[in-house]
Amino acid sequence: MQRIVAPSMLSADFGHLDRDTRMIDRSAAEWVHIDVMDGVFVPNISFGFPVLKAIRKATSKFLDVHLMIVSPERYVERFVEAGADLVTFHLEAAEDPAGCIARIRRAGAKVGVSIKPATPVEALRGVLPAVDLVLVMSVEPGFGGQSFIEGSLEKIRRLRALVRELGLDTVIEVDGGISAANAREVFEAGAEVLVAGSAVFKAGDPEAEIRRILGA
Ligand code: DX5
Ligand code: ZN
Repeated sequence: MQRIVAPSMLSADFGHLDRDTRMIDRSAAEWVHIDVMDGVFVPNISFGFPVLKAIRKATSKFLDVHLMIVSPERYVERFVEAGADLVTFHLEAAEDPAGCIARIRRAGAKVGVSIKPATPVEALRGVLPAVDLVLVMSVEPGFGGQSFIEGSLEKIRRLRALVRELGLDTVIEVDGGISAANAREVFEAGAEVLVAGSAVFKAGDPEAEIRRILGA
């Protein structure tokens, strides 16, 4: 299976957004993870369209946009216009998941759906055939720098089994508390894309840290 690291810009230095984005652009990371928070779905507010557009200008890498917002269906087209290659919304936040998926596709981006730690993998069964990716949250969404919830490993294994059972090729991405210390077990549980925020941006040598996660 492929291995991809998606550094989360939430942990970047916003005073040097261009510099930090260009660093990722030079690195072995194929994706850039962008966390959008509305202060309602999660108890934190991050950034929106102008910041996404600035990141888009500084990199040609795949922009992986993680929406932690209520009623995502209201905004998905604007995220695609601002540069998203993939738009992931939370299953718990969408009033009409099928409609949201259709809108993202119509706008020309790949589609992801995410579940919080308390949401079971079985809740995805209905939407799975319609999406390209599932993002499994391994911390409560809202903040970087939290510890990986160990129970997530079993969830990733169950999701990998469900994807196989349904004969799909859904990409599994995992977000929260990932570092070179646990990347190997997360990949081995069945994930292909690992998000890493603080592990990358707080490292003395972020590019080396990305390589360590990829080679874990
Ligand atoms: C949290 C975000 C994550 C966050 C991960 O709600 O979805 O993408 O940036 O940060 P770390 O890797 O520090 O747990
Ligand atoms: Zn995220």
